[in-house]
Amino acid sequence: MSDESFEPTVIGFTCNWCSYRAADLAGTARVKYPPNIRLIRLMCSGRLDPTFVLKAFSSGADGVLITGCHPGECHYLEQNYKALRRFHLLRRTLQGLGLEPERVKLVWASAAEGVKLAHEIASFVEEIRALGPLHWGGNGSNQSSVISGQSTAHAFKEVPA
Ligand code: FES
Repeated sequence: MSDESFEPTVIGFTCNWCSYRAADLAGTARVKYPPNIRLIRLMCSGRLDPTFVLKAFSSGADGVLITGCHPGECHYLEQNYKALRRFHLLRRTLQGLGLEPERVKLVWASAAEGVKLAHEIASFVEEIRALGPLHWGGNGSNQSSVISGQSTAHAFKEVPA
C-alpha cells in the first residue's frame, strides 16, 4: 500500500500547558520533526470533542495525534482521563467504520519533553505513511460535504483554542 509520493497529513491536538509547550521546546531546541503535522492548541486534552477528530478525518487528515499532560498532572484535575476514555471510544468508532484504529494515537508529554514529543510525532507520521492515504472525505462522500472546498488547515480555523 506504500505510495512513494504519499505525504501524510496529520492533525495534532495539543494541550496548552504541556504538549504545546513541548512542541515549542522542540522548536527552540532545533529538534526536528516532520512538517506533516499541523498542531491545534486546546486548553486541555479534556477539551477534545471526539467530533474534532472525526472532522479532521473528513477534512483530509490521514492521522490524528492527541497529546496531553501525563495522568495526574492535568491542570484541570482529571480532564486528561476524559481524553483517555474518548481516545478509546474513537478507536472503537474508527474500527466500526472500517478504518484502521491506529490512525488515532494518544501521547502524554510534559512541557519538558520536547525531544520525546518530536520522536513520537516522527514515528506516528511514519506509521500513517505505512497505512497509506485515508481518502475518507474525498469525492462526494457525506463527510466531505460538511466543509467542501476548504483545505484542512482552513477548516480548522473555526476550532476554538
Ligand atoms: S491541562 Fe494538559 S491535559 Fe489537562
